[in-house]
Amino acid sequence: MSILKVARMGHPVLRRRAESIGRSDLKNRALQQLIDDMIDTMHEYQGVGLAAPQVHEGVRLFVAMLDEEPDANSVASVLINPEIEPATREQHAGWEGCLSIPDIRGLVPRYTEITLRGLDREGRPRELALKGFPARVAQHETDHLDGVLFFDRMTSFESLTFLDEYSRYWTKDED
Ligand code: NI
Repeated sequence: MSILKVARMGHPVLRRRAESIGRSDLKNRALQQLIDDMIDTMHEYQGVGLAAPQVHEGVRLFVAMLDEEPDANSVASVLINPEIEPATREQHAGWEGCLSIPDIRGLVPRYTEITLRGLDREGRPRELALKGFPARVAQHETDHLDGVLFFDRMTSFESLTFLDEYSRYWTKDED
């Protein structure tokens, strides 16, 4: 197990479009090791998702906790070459943070329901219908693969807050 260094906002890797992964690349030991290390890194920093560019790898892959009601038995989902299709036109502003933008939270509008398609780590097609927070996480992580950070999606910076102030002033407003 290795904990990887997480790139922080300002590092150019976070702004580049990541490259697609070929199905045969998934037989590559180094890539499978990267996936395991990304899962360990996500858990180590108590994240709910981590995209490869955040650990300085420009490939289209993310790991995330996508259970609607996560518990101790929840396992990380691995999505290769993920694509998002909105299943509704409805968007909802909800709180997001990012391991690459430590200790900051902001309200970000996202589609409330999506279809997430991609491959799993063995190269099998996956299709997930997601709503609510897992749908939000999947949109946030897929954005990372296109060099997009959650700040870019905010319609106003009024809600931008440090974590301490978030706990103090904002959590009661959460719906
Ligand atoms: Ni992020």
